[in-house]
This record gives sequence, structure tokens and C-alpha cells, in this order.
Amino acid sequence: MTAPASRSLDVDAVMAQLTLEEKISLASGSDFWRTQAVERLGVPAVMVCDGPHGLRKQAGGSDQAGIQESVPATCFPPAAGLASTWDVDLLRRVGVALGDECRAEEVAVLLGPGVNMKRSPLCGRNFEYFSEDPLLAGELATALVQGVQSRGVGTSLKHFAANNQETERMSVSVEVDERTLREIYFPAFERVVTRARPWTVMCSYNRVNGVYASQDPWLLTQVLRADWGFEGLVVSDWGAVDERWRGVAAGLDLEMPSSAGTGEASIRAAVEEGTLAEAELDVVVARVLELVQRVLPALAPGQSFDPDAHHALAREAARQSAVLLSNDGVLPLDPSSGGRIAVVGEMARSPRYQGTGSSQVNPTRLEDALTALREGTSRDVVFAPGYVTESEQSDDALVAEAVEAARSAEVVVLFLGLPSSYESEGYDREHLDLPAPQVALLEAVRAVNDRVVVVLSNGSAVAVDAWQHHTAALLEGWLLGQAGGPATADLLYGVVSPSGRLAETVPVRLEDTPAYGSFPGDSGVVRYGEGLLIGYRWYDTRRAPVSHPFGHGLSYTTFEHSDLAVRASGAGAEASVEVSLTVTNTGSRAGAEVVQVYSAPQDAGVFRPEQELVGFARVQLEPGASAPVSLVLSARDLGHWSPVHRRWVLESGRYEVRVGASSRDVRQRAVVEVQGEDLVVPLSPSSEASLWLEHPVAGPRLREQLGTAVEMLDDPQHGQMMRAIPMVRLTRYPGFPVREEDLPRLAEEANSAV
Ligand code: BGC
Repeated sequence: MTAPASRSLDVDAVMAQLTLEEKISLASGSDFWRTQAVERLGVPAVMVCDGPHGLRKQAGGSDQAGIQESVPATCFPPAAGLASTWDVDLLRRVGVALGDECRAEEVAVLLGPGVNMKRSPLCGRNFEYFSEDPLLAGELATALVQGVQSRGVGTSLKHFAANNQETERMSVSVEVDERTLREIYFPAFERVVTRARPWTVMCSYNRVNGVYASQDPWLLTQVLRADWGFEGLVVSDWGAVDERWRGVAAGLDLEMPSSAGTGEASIRAAVEEGTLAEAELDVVVARVLELVQRVLPALAPGQSFDPDAHHALAREAARQSAVLLSNDGVLPLDPSSGGRIAVVGEMARSPRYQGTGSSQVNPTRLEDALTALREGTSRDVVFAPGYVTESEQSDDALVAEAVEAARSAEVVVLFLGLPSSYESEGYDREHLDLPAPQVALLEAVRAVNDRVVVVLSNGSAVAVDAWQHHTAALLEGWLLGQAGGPATADLLYGVVSPSGRLAETVPVRLEDTPAYGSFPGDSGVVRYGEGLLIGYRWYDTRRAPVSHPFGHGLSYTTFEHSDLAVRASGAGAEASVEVSLTVTNTGSRAGAEVVQVYSAPQDAGVFRPEQELVGFARVQLEPGASAPVSLVLSARDLGHWSPVHRRWVLESGRYEVRVGASSRDVRQRAVVEVQGEDLVVPLSPSSEASLWLEHPVAGPRLREQLGTAVEMLDDPQHGQMMRAIPMVRLTRYPGFPVREEDLPRLAEEANSAV
């Protein structure tokens, strides 16, 4: 980066001296990765860099696609792995390490994390996103952002908003209702914005209900700033700007990268024509300067980090990221006694450890599982690659070699997974299957050895239903970063117990997935017809089978949940529910349990998913040890977004609190009566008669005027049809005792009285 002359900047003083041209220039980047400098006023350019599971600083040539190599940096597991840890403290520590690597490279802002929801397992970028659940994604990303920013450098929460596919990502219009946005696609952003205060938010490429996110005042100003109190800078995704001046007016502060003068010309013309006030430009320019001012103290040259310590942290993170999906007892393998181990699969030797695209990190070192498995045991280990990773054809010689290795072994550890060409930024997957040669290899190996442990490497769920019955154990490794190899060996040899839990459901078939048929849309439009029902919300509400449910993950030890106590207090927006229980490690090894709390409203007046994650706690326990877990659910945790009231509301009624080890493994439940708000639906003349009659103020007045007609409306059966008629239409029926012209006043009086 351009070394800053001084470590401070007086934003007001600079603002007062900037010319219009300088202001215009500051609203765009100066190149691929840097903001614009104003040398005469001592404003340096600062550098932003991709990641975010490591730093991708391109020192030489610049590109977005991850083709040019970047400076070496620690490659932690990408978000798909990190999310499976459900470990807020770990994410914070990874964030601190990332922040230190930014400082060492004089990078002002790390471009991440991405908290878009996994609407479909096909999304090519799911490896970069955390979860299908907004609470889990939001909690983990909050910790990561806090960690990075505790080091005095910024983050960029991305991609805001509703960027859930790669197909047509730069133009597609996401057609989605507001409740779904507010309950599913926004909350992870909202949580991070309100709790971790990211320095920047990156708007997405796509359109939301027809409007480009980069020039949507509702998204960038109303929701982000007015509703959530965001005070940082909004940066465009790289090349997401359509009309720059509209972005300025909407709240897009910085266009990245530079745009060959197009952005500047757009702003200049709009200011000259008077369609954009210079004062509006001043707002975004001040935010750019504030960002520069904020980061300057951290950008002293000559800082460094400890690559060994960060590699060790990457190994710890990888150990916790893998999820043990099934185990008939074959795992853990005893490293000090037993017969030969056959390690099969090219990915054991040539790991798939991160995704492709702008997040691609050049690791400080890379350790494979084969070497680690050999080093971690005194047992005889043989290896056979079995397949060519990027090939769709079985190689008979490789299969034969693998079968021979398996035949002579006591146990087979078979590494399967998605080739990197299967999942990448920029395009989506077309199916959920592993390459056919890999499944054929499993079958061939299984025919000669019935103790086959499969280790998967993939950035998003793959279908396992057709072949998992061939496995004695199945370890979902996701993408584990640069230390994934030794971490995998640690897990297989039982150095540590697996502790990852699924942050996304493993579906049986693509056809069962929530967005099937509407993903990725066509003709420039994608309709989110499944609404609130993404991920487990869909499968659990529809009671549909899954291969492995959200939240699932085994350990080498066992846990018991007991003594659930649930207590409600307060009312309305102040209502809360205290949940407490005890978790005990009932097995013989140390391990971590992830206690999950789901809320299932029993008396909802609106549609609610069957259950929703409202809290979780990861507890590390020695054998025989117990620990109390307690958490408090707020009105917001239990409530829903009301399209009628245009805000979050809490309905009164019974809520079942379910506590367990996955969305399908509920261990304890308790029903609690919650005192919500007195929710009165605002009336208009065209509101249905039932709403008028139920209204606490208008209802009694109307009943007086209705006289005997009320009997007809109250009739349980026939009245049902009448009550569904808009009041204004009823007044027009011959002889109806209420007059149309009285309704507006009645509605107004009723609405203002409550
Ligand atoms: C990606 C962003 C990334 C940016 C800069 C875009 O294509 O969507 O996630 O931060 O490029 O490389």
C-alpha cells in the first residue's frame, strides 16, 4: 500500500478543503484494491484484501478470480468448516489471527465474512458461507468480525443482500417478500451489524425485487442505517455498480474497483445537473475518509505474525470443523496396535482444502492427511490413489491397485470429495453427487473389505444416501484449510473426539431441497417461493426425511442432557424466557457437546416454521463431568416479522422449548406460556369484517350500529363467509346498516385509540 505519511487524519479539516473533483475521486477506488489518495491533503490510499478464511493480498498482478498468486497467508478452514465448530470463542481467535496477518501486510480491511444463507446446496459459493440458519451464521460471524477488528483493522460483511446463487449473480432479480428477508436473509447481517459493528458492509451484485443492491436506498439506508444503526462504510462488490450517482444517493459510499472513469463521470454529471446534491456526495466522501482515519494507527510498517502459532490454530479449527456423521465403532483407530491401514484416494495426498475464486489463499504451508496418518501411527500404512480427482472416468489400473491395498488391510480410510472444478465462485453446481468414479471405487473397495471409513472433502453438502451404507464410518471433513491433514489424523486416531455439528442439512435427494425448481431461476429472475422454509425449517415443517439433520454430529463420547427448566418473565417486547439444563459427559473420553435450543410456537396466528434455532452452547467436558448451560431467549428470538405492523412482534401463547443435539434429536422439551404484545391489526375500510369485529375499539362500536345484522356475522358457520368480506363491500349491500362514508373516520379513530 501507499505508506501513509502520518498516522492520523483530521476528517473535518480535509473535508473543508476538498475540491469537487477530489470528492468525486474519493467515492471510487484508485485501482483493484486501493482507495484513492489525495496527496496534497495528506490522505493516503489504503488497501483492502480478500479472504476471509485467510488473507489474499495480491502484491503483484491484480485479479479477482484468484488466478494471480498472493502473498503467503495462513489458510484457515473456509466458513463451511468454521461454521461446523459452533464455537464462538474459536471464531474470535481466528479473527484475531486474521487481524494480525492484515497488520503484517498493511491491509486496512479484510473483505469478509460472507453471511449469505445457504438457500440451496447447489450454490457454488456455499463453502464461503456459514449456514442455512441465520442465528448460527450471525453469531459466528459476529465473533470473527470482533476478533479481526480488535486488531484495529476492518472487515467487510458481505454480500448484502440475498446473494444466494452464482448463476446470473451480477444481474438476477431476487423476488422475495419482506418477511422472508427480515426473518431469513437479513438477520445474520443485522446481528453482526448491531453487535460487532463491522467497519464496512459490501453490497451484493444482484437485484432485490428489481433494484440493484448497489443503488437500493431501502437496503443501504433504510434497513442498514435507519433500522440497524450501521455507521460504517458501504462498499460495492467488485463491479456491482450500475449507475454510480444513484448509488451515492442510495448510500453506497465506495465503488470498487476503479471504473475507468465511468463512476466519476456519472457523479459529475448528476451534480452538474442537480439530480445529486453535493451534500449527498459529502456524506459518502466523509465515510471514506473516516475509514482511512480509523485504520491508520494499525498500519505501521514492520509488523509480523507467528506463522507456526497460526498454523497450530488452523489445525485446532480444522479438528473442530469436521463432523462425524456415522460410526459403527470402527473409529477411533488405535494408532499403536492393529493391522495394516489402507489409505485410499488421491485427496489423502493432494488435499482439497479451500474453494476457488476470490477467497483463494496462498497457504504458508500445506499438510496432507496421508503424511499425517503415516506419522501418527506405528501401524503399517499403504496408499493407493484410486482415482484421478478431476476425471469423470474410472481408471481401471488405479481401482485394481486400491482394491489390492484394501484386501490386505484391516481397515480402509477412503478419501472422497468434490473436485475443485465442481464448486467455485462464479457458477453453481448442477447436482449433489460425488464424481461417479469415486462412488464406484468405494463399491469396489467395500467388496473386499467391510471396514471402510470415508472422509469427505467438499464445500457444500453432497448426497450420501446411495452409498453411505457401504461405510463403517463417515467423516464429513468439509474444506479444512492448510492444516486439515494432521487435523484429520488427530480425529481418526482419537487424539481428540470429533466435535463438529452440521451447519447445513444433508438432504436425501436434490429433488427434496427447498429451492428445487426455483433455483437458480431463469430469465433474470429467481423467486424465493419457499419463503421462510429454507434448510431444516423446510424439512422439519414438512416432516421430510433427510440423510443427516441440521445440528447433527457424533463424538467418541456420549452426552446426557437433563434438568431442563424453562421460565418466562416480562411481557411484550420485554418478555423473555430463561432456559437452563445440565449436560453430562457419560462416556469415557473428553469431548464437546453442542446444546441446541429450538423454539416451536404452539398458538401462532401466522405461519411459523415447525421450529427455529434460538440459541446454542458448546460445552467441552471431561469424562464424567457435568456443566450447567443457561441462556435467555428474548422477545425477538421468539417473535416474527409482521408484514402488517412492519416490525418484529411477539404473539402471546404457548411456546415449546426444545433442547437437543440436532434438529431431529430433541432430548428435552418444555412448554412455556409467554405474554406477548396486544397486537391489534390497523383497520382500513377494506379490512375484512372479521378484523373490524375483533378490534377492541371499533368492534363494540360497529356491533351497536349493526343491530340484528350482527347475529348473521357472528353465526359460526354462515357468518364465516360474511366475515371474510371487506367491510367497505358489506356496506354497499342492500340494507346494510353501516354507511360506507362513516368507515374512514371509524378506522382512524380506532387506529389512533390503540
Ligand atoms: C466477490 C467478493 C470479493 C470481491 C473482490 C467479488 O467478485 O463477490 O466476495 O470480495 O470480488 O475480489
